[in-house]
Amino acid sequence: MAGKPRRVYVCQQCGAQSPKWSGRCAECGAWNTLQEERQAPAGTGLRRGGFAGAVETGIRDLNEVDVAEVKRISTGFAELDRVLGGGLVAGSVVLIGGDPGIGKSTLLTQALGALSREWRTLYVTGEESLQQVGLRARRLGLATPRLRLLAETEVERILELAAQERPQVMVVDSVQTVFTAALQSAPGSVSQVRESAAQLVQYAKRSGSALFLVGHVTKEGTLAGPRILEHMVDTVLYFEGDADSRFRVLRAVKNRFGAVNELGVFAMLDGGLKEVSNPSAIFLSRHESPVPGSAVMVTREGSRPLLVEVQALVAETHTANPRRLAVGLDPNRLAILLAVLQRHCGVTVYDQDVFVNVVGGVRVGETAADLALVLAVLSSLRNRPLPEGLVIFGEVGLAGEIRPVQHGQERLREAAQQGFRRALIPKANAPRRPFEGLEVTAIRTLGEALDILS
Ligand code: TYD
Ligand code: MG
Repeated sequence: MAGKPRRVYVCQQCGAQSPKWSGRCAECGAWNTLQEERQAPAGTGLRRGGFAGAVETGIRDLNEVDVAEVKRISTGFAELDRVLGGGLVAGSVVLIGGDPGIGKSTLLTQALGALSREWRTLYVTGEESLQQVGLRARRLGLATPRLRLLAETEVERILELAAQERPQVMVVDSVQTVFTAALQSAPGSVSQVRESAAQLVQYAKRSGSALFLVGHVTKEGTLAGPRILEHMVDTVLYFEGDADSRFRVLRAVKNRFGAVNELGVFAMLDGGLKEVSNPSAIFLSRHESPVPGSAVMVTREGSRPLLVEVQALVAETHTANPRRLAVGLDPNRLAILLAVLQRHCGVTVYDQDVFVNVVGGVRVGETAADLALVLAVLSSLRNRPLPEGLVIFGEVGLAGEIRPVQHGQERLREAAQQGFRRALIPKANAPRRPFEGLEVTAIRTLGEALDILS
């Protein structure tokens, strides 16, 4: 006999369950996030956890396991393939997250359009009508007679139709709109997102069909149905970009089939997304002449060097607590660097608001950005521009020392190629032979870096 549905309270932020309601989640500490959800009684056929990840089960010897190179399918976008680790893997599940309107549906429609020339493809939309999807495809100029569409939100129905259609690549857009009939809670709630995704993942693993799941990002910046999906899937990609910039960056934050932090760069044009295969200098704003508060660095996100501009604005504060704001950079790192600046260079900003921003909506996670960040702040504070054609990289240590970064030569080469004439870098990254056309200043301490501004 099936039992009565169990009542639980699920935190919509972290997915933690509790038998009682409370104003604050005991797990993640978020307020007012607990919501009543009915769980299906045990034994209603919901399989959870342990997606064997393979069709075959049972215990094997390690050397019996077939480790032939996994077969990769090209998505038609070299940039998407690169982020996936060299193409799509059959039976793999890829979660693509991003703000609404960033271009997730566009990206997947175009990719599926290209894939449909060779593979059986199915686009399941829970957000838009077939007409809307059709209109988008027409705007994108996709001639894809073989791209199959389905507007459906019930997982059981989706899987039933998929079982007949047997797509080799399937898109479910979005995971927040689909629901399973086994649960009574509303679509988009944590239990629904988790359970529906689990069924879809299981289907992909069993059938060997590659699956893209689209997920919206909540205002807190996590994939809604927070993080609970990330461990279920093979690959997690984030699609990012400034609303007013046409450039979009696709970033791998988890990948069982490739490197993480790999970047793919796209431009959103009238005819859809176009890949930018040589993105090295697109994130620079071209100033007529040098302006205070702007510094150019070479970051190396993924496997390519990228020139990006860091901007700082330092302005006298009028409140008791000066503001510290970092967009595209780690705010904690900014606080540390300001402390280093004070302690080792005697530069104080306790009476100043400090805002920093990376141009073009890129996010830089590397500590190689430290030196450029500090110099941008100083340049704004002193209202003096950095020298023209200068490129900067280097990590700043707590003792005020400048520490080396990886791939220094490659960064220098890229800067020289893009027409930069001067470089300020860590001593330990100094090239053995001079670079043609690039005057390299290699330094040991932050104090030495300040000279460049005088
Ligand atoms: P969409 O893919 O619907 O975003 P998401 O699925 O992530 O919510 O993209 C929507 C935006 O992209 C919309 O603001 C219009 C823009 N866009 C273009 O600029 N060119 C195009 O060819 C298309 C299809 C969309
Ligand atoms: Mg969409």
